[in-house]
Amino acid sequence: MITALLPGGSGALTDADLLRLYAYPDDADSGSADPGCADPGAQHPYVRFNFVAAADGSATSNGLSSGLGNDGDKRIFNLLRRLPDIILVGAGTIRAEGYEGALVDDEGQAWRRGQGLPAHPALGIISGSLDLDPSSGFFANAPVKPLIFTSDSAPASRLDALSHVADVVPCGAESVETGLLLKALAQRALPRVLCEGGPAVLGALTASDAVDDLCLSLSPLLAGGEGPRISAGKAPAGPVALSLASLLTEDSALYIRYVKART
Ligand SMILES: NC(=O)c1ccc[n+]([C@@H]2O[C@H](COP(=O)([O-])OP(=O)(O)OC[C@H]3O[C@@H](n4cnc5c(N)ncnc54)[C@H](OP(=O)(O)O)[C@@H]3O)[C@@H](O)[C@H]2O)c1
Repeated sequence: MITALLPGGSGALTDADLLRLYAYPDDADSGSADPGCADPGAQHPYVRFNFVAAADGSATSNGLSSGLGNDGDKRIFNLLRRLPDIILVGAGTIRAEGYEGALVDDEGQAWRRGQGLPAHPALGIISGSLDLDPSSGFFANAPVKPLIFTSDSAPASRLDALSHVADVVPCGAESVETGLLLKALAQRALPRVLCEGGPAVLGALTASDAVDDLCLSLSPLLAGGEGPRISAGKAPAGPVALSLASLLTEDSALYIRYVKART
């Protein structure tokens, strides 16, 4: 039973309550201000990340995130998948976590249709090396043709093989550049982004100040070991300030929603 600590309330939250609490802002369609862009009118998609971490900060248990979340985390994880225009994932997470098949369940697909949305959100992978198997179940069983965001330096033979099973989108010379990635999403009319990881992608988008929303499940576990944090890579010039949007709980886990602080 998930309950709310903030905003205050009593009783178990229904799926409808949770979907309201995690709704994208009404103006997400028109995007938020373009990071680092001189034109204040320029817009970019609204970028939400969803992560789970142990109480000691580890983003994995035995190399995977799946051992960290409890039932409440899994419930919120699945409900969050109903809301975006695209689910975006780094290649490291695809390789580690074994993504395959529909990411939105039947009930979620019906809910999306009822909202006037396509049954399945678009699905995007960020990869520089294109070390992805075009014959894998990920591509064979994807309900929509995946997008792969890569760079001009990706190996041509892999690009050729993957272009039969995905739409490959160059977004930079040596690596995927955040500004070009956001532009590509906006051009495809995919303004509501749910990024399910992993740490390298969160680090890259944090460095470009392109993270609008962080849904973080904190598990009542000490994972120990040397698991990664939820973010990796080059630090931004300064930390990005966040505001608490909601705080929920079930069985000693905390489900925190932070949004970028308005300055
Ligand atoms: N706790 C959680 O909620 C959670 C969520 C997700 C993942 N994880 C864990 O995180 C670990 C994986 O970490 P990770 O950092 O490798 O995952 P990741 O961020 O999903 O993937 C990293 C990969 O994404 C590609 N990439 C990221 N930024 C790029 C850029 N700017 N340009 C080009 N390519 C870029 C690269 O792919 P190529 O190597 O193909 O070039 C890079 O190796 C796994 O153990 C997974 O279980 C935890």
